[in-house]
Amino acid sequence: MLDIEFGNLQEPEYGRREALNSLRTNIQFSGSGLQTLLFTSCQPNEGKSTISFELAYSMATNGKKTVFVDADLRKSVTINRYKITNQRKRIGGLSHYLSMQATLDDVLCHTNVENMDIILSGPYTPNPTALFNEPAFDVLLQTLRKLYDYVIIDTPPLGAVIDAAVIAPKCDGAILVLEANMTNSRAAISVKKQLELVGSNILGVVLNKVPVRSSGYYYQYYGEYK
Ligand SMILES: Nc1ncnc2c1ncn2[C@@H]1O[C@H](COP(=O)(O)OP(=O)(O)OP(=O)(O)O)[C@@H](O)[C@H]1O
Ligand SMILES: [Mg+2]
Repeated sequence: MLDIEFGNLQEPEYGRREALNSLRTNIQFSGSGLQTLLFTSCQPNEGKSTISFELAYSMATNGKKTVFVDADLRKSVTINRYKITNQRKRIGGLSHYLSMQATLDDVLCHTNVENMDIILSGPYTPNPTALFNEPAFDVLLQTLRKLYDYVIIDTPPLGAVIDAAVIAPKCDGAILVLEANMTNSRAAISVKKQLELVGSNILGVVLNKVPVRSSGYYYQYYGEYK
């Protein structure tokens, strides 16, 4: 039985879909040990949540067992953006699990996308950063590694809050989302250094919202950033 249903899933248009496919295949060919992947950025609004969710969807529809973890405990958009309807009586999220108010079983949800499960963020808590330092978070990642091919983790911007730097060293790789013509190189380098300092394996950069002549925006994936 499904636990939750996405009421609003739109197939990305051609340019975006192509860029997303190249992101997915680049990750898949970057090594078999890359299972837990974190997405962050310098500033708010650069497109982390969009890209990480669409990547999880793309992995799942290509036959990879994938879980999307909404680790933005401060400003999650997932429920509203994808018009999630809840088919369980009560559903918890990551903040419930990390603060020992729920088990993994309580918060891990099957969705109406085959191969795609999700852990929602749960309600806002006073100190999200501290929760990611809890041993429960390490246990969560270890368990999800065993259950899924890919664990895609969406986090808040590193230029604003430190959460991603706490989570990144626990993951196999980090991907930085940069909005074209928005984030300057100094800010990007500073975030890169922050991630390196904590021992994160930076896999690459997604340059997002690249203006194209005909139809709005799309994103591009740049393999090597180091
Ligand atoms: N490639 C794109 N083309 C057009 N619009 C985009 C693209 N990527 C993201 N957006 C839009 O930009 C806005 C911000 O995207 P998103 O919520 O994914 O950013 P975010 O980095 O997760 O933000 P936050 O830092 O607040 O978590 C949304 O309205 C989203 O639809
Ligand atoms: Mg976001």
